[in-house]
Amino acid sequence: MNHFHYRDGSLWCDGAEMVQLLREYGSPLYVYSSQAIVESCREIEGACGDLRHCVYYAVKANANREILRLIASQGLGADIGSAGELHLALQAGFKPSSITFSGVGKRDDEIAMAIDTGILAFNIESRQELEVIEQVAAARGAKARILLRVNLDIDAGGHRYISTSLKHNKFGIPWHHAEEELKHAMTLPHIQVGGIHSHIGSQITKRDVFHRAARRIVGLVRELRASGIPMDDMDFGGGFAVRYHGFLQDPALPVESQESEDLTAPEAIRSIVPVLRDAGCRISFQPGRSIIAQAGALAVSVLYRKQMDKKPFVIVDGGMNDLIRPSLYGSHHQIVPLRLKGAPHENVDVVGPVCESGDFFAQDRALPRVERGDSLAILCAGAYGFVLSSNYNARLRVAEVLVEGSAARVVRPRETFADL
Ligand code: LLP
Repeated sequence: MNHFHYRDGSLWCDGAEMVQLLREYGSPLYVYSSQAIVESCREIEGACGDLRHCVYYAVKANANREILRLIASQGLGADIGSAGELHLALQAGFKPSSITFSGVGKRDDEIAMAIDTGILAFNIESRQELEVIEQVAAARGAKARILLRVNLDIDAGGHRYISTSLKHNKFGIPWHHAEEELKHAMTLPHIQVGGIHSHIGSQITKRDVFHRAARRIVGLVRELRASGIPMDDMDFGGGFAVRYHGFLQDPALPVESQESEDLTAPEAIRSIVPVLRDAGCRISFQPGRSIIAQAGALAVSVLYRKQMDKKPFVIVDGGMNDLIRPSLYGSHHQIVPLRLKGAPHENVDVVGPVCESGDFFAQDRALPRVERGDSLAILCAGAYGFVLSSNYNARLRVAEVLVEGSAARVVRPRETFADL
């Protein structure tokens, strides 16, 4: 279900009218639907069916404290990528025994903190990291459980910055070295081998990519088990896509082609479960985007319009420092007016106030004509939105509001000059 919808030409997030939220909490503003988050957690859990499984939410996608609390309350675990994320996950109520730690560059103090906390597993990425974990665990008289992240050399498609499982990427250990590395790990007294991990990329829209990865990793689990390596857990990672194009449809909005983005996380999971089941171990997933992207929007207000020789610009009060995905990856986010007034469509660039030509939310995009004082929602901005924001140009980070039914509350206050 779409939790952003028009009622009598005005955009609502569940039971809260977006223009009212902007009036009350100021602009720009991140707005999230709590119901949408709960639903996506349930749909992903539901897609796993009777598979012996665990779902670890990838905290990096959105690390707001209240959102983490909500996701923890749905019974998911957490995958963290830093000590800061571990701190937030614990505060939000995730149990240490359902926390995993991924990342190619874990610091010694982060490893120590995670061991002291008693997390479930480290997803390790190099021989040297393994040796450091062994030393840190030995110094604490502890045993650390590890899964080896394998690089499956599979092209996940999409933007090259977010594909992670190609030979030339920094992630994991080449899959054909897994046996040697895990056999070495088994000789270390403070290491317990739990299995293997992979994460092939993000916003993966092709079913056959998931299938190739699933078949390769299941084959590997069986070979490794046959050579005497314990394979209790296989973590398949995240990467499930969401629909960004044409997320919201209304006769008054320009039609956006939906491209090939039609594989939702539950569909992708349902289609690989029969393959993964053959691994004969507990299967984990680490969804990030698919839990939170569509649950959030960034609302901005139009400051100015201007007509350049080549094209018209709509200048809004939010910028690349608030949502960097269009600038960094050329990502498409649908942009819609908070109020539909039957205005004709025009092709515009929607840009921010930051002093860079890369500061845009959309280029040459059809939009109903908007004027100074109107407001827009940049949709599907819940994942990798606020978490990637910055104080560039000494701009204050914006507030975040969580809508619960018809009530709304600030879950992160807008920064003030004192925060700079
Ligand atoms: N597991 C690991 C080890 C990861 O590195 C990631 C994301 C995930 C799970 C979650 O992946 P997801 O389900 O969200 O695709 N900033 C980029 C995406 C970077 C993804 C980084 N790793 C973007 O805005 O598209």
